[in-house]
Amino acid sequence: MRRRLDRHNDLLRSLFAFALVCVVFMGRVGTVFGDPDGVTSIFRPLAQPAQEIKETSLLVLVICAVIFLIMFGLLVYSLIRFRHRPGDEASEPPQIYGSNQIEMAWTVLPILIVFVLILVTSRTIADIQNRKASPGALQATVTGHQWWWEIRYPELGIVTANELHVPASDQSRRRPTFLKLQSADVAHSFWVPQLAGKTDLIPNRENRMWIDPTQPGTYLGNCAEYCGTQHARMLIRVIVHPPVEFERWVTEQRRPAAEEPTALEGRRVFFRNSCVNCHTIRGTSAQGAFGPDLTHLMSRQTLASGAGLNTTETLRAWVRDPQRLKIGCLMPNMQMTDTEVDQIVSYLQTLK
Ligand code: CUA
Repeated sequence: MRRRLDRHNDLLRSLFAFALVCVVFMGRVGTVFGDPDGVTSIFRPLAQPAQEIKETSLLVLVICAVIFLIMFGLLVYSLIRFRHRPGDEASEPPQIYGSNQIEMAWTVLPILIVFVLILVTSRTIADIQNRKASPGALQATVTGHQWWWEIRYPELGIVTANELHVPASDQSRRRPTFLKLQSADVAHSFWVPQLAGKTDLIPNRENRMWIDPTQPGTYLGNCAEYCGTQHARMLIRVIVHPPVEFERWVTEQRRPAAEEPTALEGRRVFFRNSCVNCHTIRGTSAQGAFGPDLTHLMSRQTLASGAGLNTTETLRAWVRDPQRLKIGCLMPNMQMTDTEVDQIVSYLQTLK
């Protein structure tokens, strides 16, 4: 009697634990589907190839959910229907051996299901990977660094960082962007969930991917491969412009750096310090290639690869001591005085 009660309690406890896990999981799924700021949801794609990936994922999820429900239903049914009853101690349950039909069914059916899954996923993968760049497509090279993104448009002569600007496609004119992905140090992974799947950036290797968004806006993404201390602050923004606005952005970015007479002092401080060894400002003698290009720094929305918004306070904090804003980052504290920091900040703010 005692043993039976214990077993009952164990069963109840397991069911309760399972229910709890389900509730927690559903809560998570709820935020993925319904969070108004859930900008990083793969379930709300706004471009190809993310749309295609979502459709395949949903099909796979539905097939797996049906299998799960059937299996779990049978399990629960058996647990209740064939539970231990008084008087069971003396007898063995009936032993049933091989039925050819049943064995054929549970061998053939899973094989068919696996084949469906293989065919569907390989079709999606081939569709995405074999896409060739059409003549009008935009080309950009993204290089992963610890911990920021270098973005070059070789055909346009533009270099920027952490924000990939692309034109939106429309029905009359498709203009996808084809990306070459490289790494300057360790493995990173480029992931903007609403636009496309993840693609790794591997040292000494060139990977490719493409995006074809139709809706203008800002899309958030992040590095999806652990790459060191500041992996979490290696955020990326893809800014999708209407075509005309994109052309305007290109024209502005192609200009060399502005030279404002108001910031001469700051300019001098910048060029006297070792800032120039790491940063490029086009049209000046600063030609460093180790850190982000600063030619149009003020046109960016964030600083330090998304560590903070591009405001005067954040810029000042960043120049004063980068290690406070982004511990472990490769820009050292230059030990400048308050006046020097202010001067450099006012110079940087002329780089529009
Ligand atoms: Cu770069 Cu993680």
